[in-house]
Amino acid sequence: MSVIVKEDKLKQANSYVKNNREKVDNTYRQKYHIMPPIGWMNDPNGFSYYNGEYHLFYQYNPYSSMWGSIHWAHVKSKDLVNWEYLDIAIAPDEAYDISGCFSGSAIEKDGKLYLMYTGNQDPGGFENLRQVQCIAVSEDGINFTKYENNPVIDSTKLPKEAIIQDFRDPKVYKKGDKYYSVIGSRNLDDSGQILLYSSDDLLNWNYEGNILQSNNEFAKMWECPDLFELDNKDILIMSPQFLEPRGNKYWNLHSSSYMIGNLDYKNNKYNLEKVEEIDYGFDFYAPQTLIDNKGRRIMIAWMQMWDRKFPTNELGHNWAGCMTIPRELKLVDDKLYQLPVEELKVLRKNEVSYKDINIKDNKSLEGIKGQCIELELEVDMKNSNEFEILLMKGNNQETSIKYNKIDELLVFDRSKNGKALGGGEKEVRTYRQTEANLIDNKLKLNIFIDRMSVEIFINDGIKTMSSTVYPDKDSDNIEFYCDKEAILDIKKWDMEVK
Ligand code: FRU
Repeated sequence: MSVIVKEDKLKQANSYVKNNREKVDNTYRQKYHIMPPIGWMNDPNGFSYYNGEYHLFYQYNPYSSMWGSIHWAHVKSKDLVNWEYLDIAIAPDEAYDISGCFSGSAIEKDGKLYLMYTGNQDPGGFENLRQVQCIAVSEDGINFTKYENNPVIDSTKLPKEAIIQDFRDPKVYKKGDKYYSVIGSRNLDDSGQILLYSSDDLLNWNYEGNILQSNNEFAKMWECPDLFELDNKDILIMSPQFLEPRGNKYWNLHSSSYMIGNLDYKNNKYNLEKVEEIDYGFDFYAPQTLIDNKGRRIMIAWMQMWDRKFPTNELGHNWAGCMTIPRELKLVDDKLYQLPVEELKVLRKNEVSYKDINIKDNKSLEGIKGQCIELELEVDMKNSNEFEILLMKGNNQETSIKYNKIDELLVFDRSKNGKALGGGEKEVRTYRQTEANLIDNKLKLNIFIDRMSVEIFINDGIKTMSSTVYPDKDSDNIEFYCDKEAILDIKKWDMEVK
């Protein structure tokens, strides 16, 4: 029997990545999004600003393009645009995290970067499953040492109504002199809730309370919580599993939602005012935020969805998963706006622009095409009821964004995107839709396309739709349609990374 000693697991994983990188098939590789060099990626973790740089870790299985042995991979950047791929930060090599270093967050303290993550222990059988919270520390932001007294939160600090099998994804933050951590949890009644813990030193934690429970009304388990202040409100973000659809919302098997309210730290209760879906596309999960040196609240999410087909895995391309672009969050009139971070503008090259184009007479425009581009457009609907833009159009392939003025609905349709993407949903939808209002009879869209993804920012970011698509390489045309007359202003840039 061979026994793998601790350090070996990390070394092994890092050398596996170095030695096998070239096995990745580039067909669907993106240009300006964060992707795993090889293997599987899910949630963003430890998104933080440390020593003048942005750090992002992510759930990572180097050995397969499916979820499995979960490590924390690591990238960093000075500008949120150019990312440096670093060695894997932590591997599942201790008894308390042997079945995976699950999601968590990061915070700076006394010049050191602390990671707080979930140790998963899954020897087989639900009754034997254990999830505990752990710490790893780095003095240089690169090399991490797990805390010798891990786990820092285990079953002894769990309230009676919470189960140890679903207790994960700590998001740590500081308020005043104290550290807090919100942790996703499942109640004995089989519904989601958020537990709050506090600490003076990040190592010794006290249970404070169950700040919000869904009482069986809003999903089974709340994964990946995040709590932060924005404009005098406490915004609570989380990803509810198996949330049933309501109206046009929550049509993915799992969702991500933001809550607006205030956390009462005396009674440890979150006073909920409002809840909304964060993104109306197909592929958006487990978002996490940071605050940077400019005071910006920036969010990034996994741009995939659980329990679906992952074409790059099925095709044997040896990788799967990517992140969204980083988005700045703003609270305006009790709505959470998402804006692409302004740094992304440095990627813009070869601008092509048109003004006052009547779509009725122009279904395509010279130079407006591509699979790695940004589009900024404004459509004056005039007397039209419908406007449609087809992206990545080719032989029997297209991805459609259609606005209907009567219904005030924007529909994203990927039925002809190139690959069937069904999964665990009861009803596999090939479209998603959301309400969108015209402003002075105009619709504004900012669209980021990167080979296999489309991210749409509607009317200055009041809503977003993020989805993967899998067209052929030469399906790169763009076409416009309207029913009567509509006037278009459009700008297009190629996105070029250094
Ligand atoms: C969310 C999630 C987390 C968990 C991680 C495991 O996507 O299920 O709750 O920590 O992924 O990889």
